[in-house]
Amino acid sequence: MRYLHARTQRTHKLNMNIEQHIATLRKALNRHNRLYYVDNAPEISDFDFDRMMRELQDLEAAHPEFADPNSPTVRVGSDRTSDFASVAHRYPMLSLSNTYSMEELREFVVRAEKEVGAVEMVCELKFDGTAISLTYEHGRLLRAVTRGDGSVGDDVTANVRTISSVPLVLEGDDYPDYFEIRGEVLMPYASFDRLNAEREAAGEQLFANPRNAAAGTLKQQQSAVVARRGLDCTLYQLSGDALPYTSHWQTLEAARRWGFKVSDKSRICTTLAEVEEYIVYWDTERKSLPFPTDGIVIKVNDFAQRRILGFTAKSPRWAVAYKFKAEQALTRLVSIDFQVGRTGAVTPVANLEPVLLAGTVVKRATLHNAEQIEQLDIRIGDMVYVEKGGEIIPKITGVEFAERTADSRPLEYISKCPECGTPLVRYEGEAKHYCPNQGGCRPQILGRIIHFIRRKALDIDGLGSETVELLHESGLLNNIADIYDLKAVDLAALPRLGEKSADNITRSINASKSVPFARLLFGLGIRFVGETTAKYMAAHFKSLDAVMFATKEQLLETEEVGNKIADSILEYFADETNRAIIERLRSAGLQFEEEAKELHSTCLEGKNIVISGKFLDHTRDELKELIELHGGKNQSGVSANTDFIVAGENMGPAKLQKAEKLGVKILSESDFIALLGTEQRGEQPQPSVAAAAPTNSDNRQEEAIQGSLF
Ligand code: IVH
Repeated sequence: MRYLHARTQRTHKLNMNIEQHIATLRKALNRHNRLYYVDNAPEISDFDFDRMMRELQDLEAAHPEFADPNSPTVRVGSDRTSDFASVAHRYPMLSLSNTYSMEELREFVVRAEKEVGAVEMVCELKFDGTAISLTYEHGRLLRAVTRGDGSVGDDVTANVRTISSVPLVLEGDDYPDYFEIRGEVLMPYASFDRLNAEREAAGEQLFANPRNAAAGTLKQQQSAVVARRGLDCTLYQLSGDALPYTSHWQTLEAARRWGFKVSDKSRICTTLAEVEEYIVYWDTERKSLPFPTDGIVIKVNDFAQRRILGFTAKSPRWAVAYKFKAEQALTRLVSIDFQVGRTGAVTPVANLEPVLLAGTVVKRATLHNAEQIEQLDIRIGDMVYVEKGGEIIPKITGVEFAERTADSRPLEYISKCPECGTPLVRYEGEAKHYCPNQGGCRPQILGRIIHFIRRKALDIDGLGSETVELLHESGLLNNIADIYDLKAVDLAALPRLGEKSADNITRSINASKSVPFARLLFGLGIRFVGETTAKYMAAHFKSLDAVMFATKEQLLETEEVGNKIADSILEYFADETNRAIIERLRSAGLQFEEEAKELHSTCLEGKNIVISGKFLDHTRDELKELIELHGGKNQSGVSANTDFIVAGENMGPAKLQKAEKLGVKILSESDFIALLGTEQRGEQPQPSVAAAAPTNSDNRQEEAIQGSLF
């Protein structure tokens, strides 16, 4: 007994030491992290940093009792998938009114000065990423929420925790107990280029620009993926109740002290001339920044003046964004190629005399369609203006008519497919021309097969586009069903393919037979049926036969499916060749049905259940699965036919309000689990009916307006 007691004491002491050591490591790692990612002034080598991190990781793994969601080890992210809970913004996330002209900017300043007297303005870069709102409580990151629709956003905390420049624990001691700070999650060009290079190598679709890449990355389901992508985060707006600051500039300085990355390019300007100077300087200088910017934000500095200026419905009247014009280059249009895609769509692509544009040499540009060529009156030999828009390939935006030669002739759009000679067609309401020869037009045949074997579809490894072409040339591969008739001996006989690769390919083909139904549906390449639509359809219809025989009305019942998609699906299955291919895929043994899950019970049969908030013991997906496994239906929004809500922490206030209004029952996570255990025995815990709202909505409105002044 005494021995035991002594041992417990010793263990206790040991644990105390470990806990202290963990705390010391966390503090040191947080500091070095900030020195490296925020201040650009590291004090220790990467090697030493990594060693310290590994030590902490090991200790945390051995002592889960000391876990902390804000430990620096969370930067590496996790493989668990997460669904994003909806969170209502305490202060709405407004947008800025835009201007492209100095004249309008002058009007903005004149109007402000008329209302509040001389104004001091803070000029900042307008970062071209995706907006984020971070909430800190007692100096620790509590929550990170996307802008969403401005009122309600997605909780992306797990992902944001992996961004190295976001402090998880603040420095200093003068930060408010509870506040929100807003800014932009950015993808620096270096991370963007690396990511797209990786995606290209893997045959995945490229991100059009760093903004899309940043937004897409924040919505990744696995935070470990986010951690690898090299995001950055710059903060520019502090919000909170009764903050002790009287100007924006003060809040920026305070935020910098607490460890946030706050731009050092911001300036206080007192005259319009100074603002103009700032704009002109950064319009050029921004090209050498390592991250994208698309303008300058001009904000009234003084909070008392901001209060007088107030807001319009959508944006503050104390700030305006001056947007930079997209960069343009003038070059000669040498020729036009017509490319035929897998759906038969024809895209004209311009070949240009190489020209430098926004840091890269441009040789090709899209021309979209015949209508656009006609509208812009583009002719071969013209000097044309090229711009980088949202897409990867630049576009032609106009012609320099002054440079047009006398012998130039209007361009005649092709009327036959450049690949197979079939007369092109135009579908109603579509600007593009299509080659209707689906079965006999080479780029369509190859395009469909290449789409089918993509990683996100049937994921047939080893069958790259070159091999597909080779197999097509040798007559072995004309459609997706032929893939399943390929024999290892045929493959091995191909030039450049040995026995080993042939074996790998056949193994991969076999493995593709168990790829889930949703990916098969996507792989079929039905026009407009992308990955997400396919997922929704698979979940809704459960089998390919159900999709095939669905009426237009039934198709339209699926989330994500509108008229255009429904028509395209009907057209696809009306085609006999497609139906024959599908029958061959069926015989080959592919997954034509959503995997049936064996019901654990029917205790939730007929029940419509909404999940909201964050849970302690289950992910939202796990709860959804439990609902289905017990025969219930998971609903995304609260409605009159909702039976109950399973609510976790931070349940969305919009849902709460609606639940109160409709008197829908609310169950906690443990109530719900108990329900699954007891219902079979005929008992039921008493769920609580939604309580009254914590604050009345008028108060909240007031707070919202107050908070966003800062
Ligand atoms: S202040 C009330 N400052 O631009 C709006 N926004 O159209 C407060 N942005 O959603 C925003 N850089 O995502 C502000 N220095 C900056 C900014 C900035 C980029 C983005 C932000 C916002 C959008 C406004």
